[in-house]
Amino acid sequence: MDPDPARPPDRVRIYEVGPRDGLQNESATVPTDTKLRYIELLVAAGLREIEVTSFVSPTAIPQLADADSLVPRLPRAHGVRYPVLVPNMRGMERAEAAGANALAVFTAATDAFTEHNIGMTVAASLEAFAPVLRRAADLGWWTRGYVSTAFGCPYTGAVEPARAVDVALRLVDLGVDEVCFGDTIGVGVPRQVATLTGAAAAAGIAPNRTAFHFHDTRGTALANVAAGLDAGVRCFDASAGGTGGCPYAPGAAGNLATEDLVYFLDASGYDHGVDLEGVLTAARYVADSLGKPLATKVGRSGGWDSATGQPVGRA
Ligand code: COA
Ligand code: ZN
Repeated sequence: MDPDPARPPDRVRIYEVGPRDGLQNESATVPTDTKLRYIELLVAAGLREIEVTSFVSPTAIPQLADADSLVPRLPRAHGVRYPVLVPNMRGMERAEAAGANALAVFTAATDAFTEHNIGMTVAASLEAFAPVLRRAADLGWWTRGYVSTAFGCPYTGAVEPARAVDVALRLVDLGVDEVCFGDTIGVGVPRQVATLTGAAAAAGIAPNRTAFHFHDTRGTALANVAAGLDAGVRCFDASAGGTGGCPYAPGAAGNLATEDLVYFLDASGYDHGVDLEGVLTAARYVADSLGKPLATKVGRSGGWDSATGQPVGRA
């Protein structure tokens, strides 16, 4: 069916997490120069929100221990936001010193995961975030709050949507601009995405303040995006090359691949400003740097231009 010409195309934000979520889970530590080249290619592809690193304990995540030297060297590109993960005031001081201007705090729907990940209960994590988010507000930074394990926890199993929404509300009370529900272990399905979005909206968190972060462990990530779109959500996380995972989430596979998401949004008529060939260039670069084949769907097949029937970005 042709799109209604009177209706402007829907704008979707693609929030790239490859340099952070992708690289934190690789056994090889990628050199800072390689990370910067990867980020440059992501910017060249049109990505405008790129989560670049974490200011966490270098013992916990050695792969991102170069955050202090990476952030000052990020490409200065107009209109690009580079959020960094910050777990506590120590991380905030480092992020400020490095010249960051956007951050994400991260907690979860379950105490068990939060304790494994950041050594605190959910309640304690929220207490740790309060001064971080106050400082970020004083500095005028954009802020996001993650609710990981929103669909299921690797330690305690099923998660009630009400529990995820409750944690999200606490983050909103602390002042975050956006809440991102994470399917950390990739167990969610579209019906649950609709239920969670509806429950968040009913609690006062509108779909335009909600984002989703899907891991494609069981092949449901893109179907979950479709459900999120239907429910009015317009921000989705993805990782060019499909890397990703959390060292504290055993069994989790990579993030939804940015190239798969871009193909899907293009063919569905959504506007997002990201160029598929550019994403594939970044995805191939990171796969080569890690010494792995590019194993994502569109990475293997290339895209397809639905208007011309021509292949796009085939290697
Ligand atoms: N940056 C660098 N170092 C930090 C830090 C930060 N933001 N916060 C704490 N540390 C250091 C402390 O200085 C201390 O160092 P020392 O042992 O040399 O004295 C050590 O880390 C332990 O500090 P403590 O306050 O006791 O924290 P903890 O051991 O309970 O760890 C976190 C808390 C949040 C720092 C740690 O669990 C962490 O970094 N987790 C990251 C998890 C992550 O990124 N997961 C993937 C994302 S989903
Ligand atoms: Zn993730």
